[in-house]
Amino acid sequence: AQDLRTRILNVNKMTAKYYYYQLRTENGRQAMEYLKNRCLSDETIRSFGLGYSNKYSNDLYLYLKKQGVSDELLRESGLMNVDERNGMYDKFWNRVIFPIMDVNNRVIGFGGRVMGDGKPKYLNSPETAVFDKSRNLYGLNVARTARKKSMLVCEGYMDVISMHQAGFKNSVASLGTALTTQHASLLKRYTDEVILTYDSDGAGIKAALRAIPMLKAAGISTRVLHMNPYKDPDEFIKTLGPEAFQERMDQAENSFLFEISILERDFDMHDPEGKTGFYQAVARKLMEFDQELERENYIQAVAERYQISFDSLRKMVNREAMRG
Ligand code: GTP
Ligand code: MN
Ligand code: MN
Ligand code: MN
Ligand code: MN
Repeated sequence: AQDLRTRILNVNKMTAKYYYYQLRTENGRQAMEYLKNRCLSDETIRSFGLGYSNKYSNDLYLYLKKQGVSDELLRESGLMNVDERNGMYDKFWNRVIFPIMDVNNRVIGFGGRVMGDGKPKYLNSPETAVFDKSRNLYGLNVARTARKKSMLVCEGYMDVISMHQAGFKNSVASLGTALTTQHASLLKRYTDEVILTYDSDGAGIKAALRAIPMLKAAGISTRVLHMNPYKDPDEFIKTLGPEAFQERMDQAENSFLFEISILERDFDMHDPEGKTGFYQAVARKLMEFDQELERENYIQAVAERYQISFDSLRKMVNREAMRG
């Protein structure tokens, strides 16, 4: 008998085809309109294998049973909800479907979005024998072949898809979870530089601050792309287009300078004491560079940005270093 992983992958493949097909039937008309309204081309919809899960709560269940899939395997696939009263029924119901592929183009799970304001906005497959969210990145199957200097890391399915459609095929997203150390090592196999393109809101900033040290630990240098005044790459590109996005990419900020610009918010920069406190905090942070030349370069960059003297900042760093 085939092992569980292989059997789940088979069920996933059948399911992805089924959802893909449903999107193209009369049932899927509203979903297709939804995707068109979000400015996705036929080619994009096809290449990401987007689909639709019907409004009938046991639609996929009945289809897969007809294909001879056992209840036990359905349970293991994560595609079904199981409860005592209703038995087993489809997890995804009336949603646009994003199949999630691993780097070998195998379907390992699914994301589903409501077409409108319902909750939850996105539903994702649970972790299964083939789906480990902390070790897979959406879009990496394509991004790894893009042969670009860097990888763009964003938050969402729609961001990845919009960026790919706009020609930025080196973009990936973590699957509704924070970036993990495993994601960082996975990225390191393909690139030495990440450009973070997280949402411009508080959650996106927090996510960036968590990701930067992880990427650094994996040997990746990071820059941060500023999306403002737009919320995310999808909205940015839809409004300003690919050229403007490329410009922002070229201007993406060094992650250390990004970190200290966030740190600055904790201090009253109109007050001498607040200012001094900020520079002390920066000086302490500068100690994380243990190579002298690198540290000096950063001291220089900070001094320039905040128009303070290189020598005083360096003295401050040395004093902090002596304090240990
Ligand atoms: P759109 O509104 O379709 O443009 O989605 P978005 O990607 O901009 O959504 P958002 O920034 O709110 O979320 C980013 C990512 O987090 C999504 O792509 C999902 O992977 C995940 N996510 C968002 N909302 C939910 C939710 O309600 N449940 C779960 N499990 N994940 C979510
Ligand atoms: Mn995990
Ligand atoms: Mn967000
Ligand atoms: Mn978003
Ligand atoms: Mn969005």
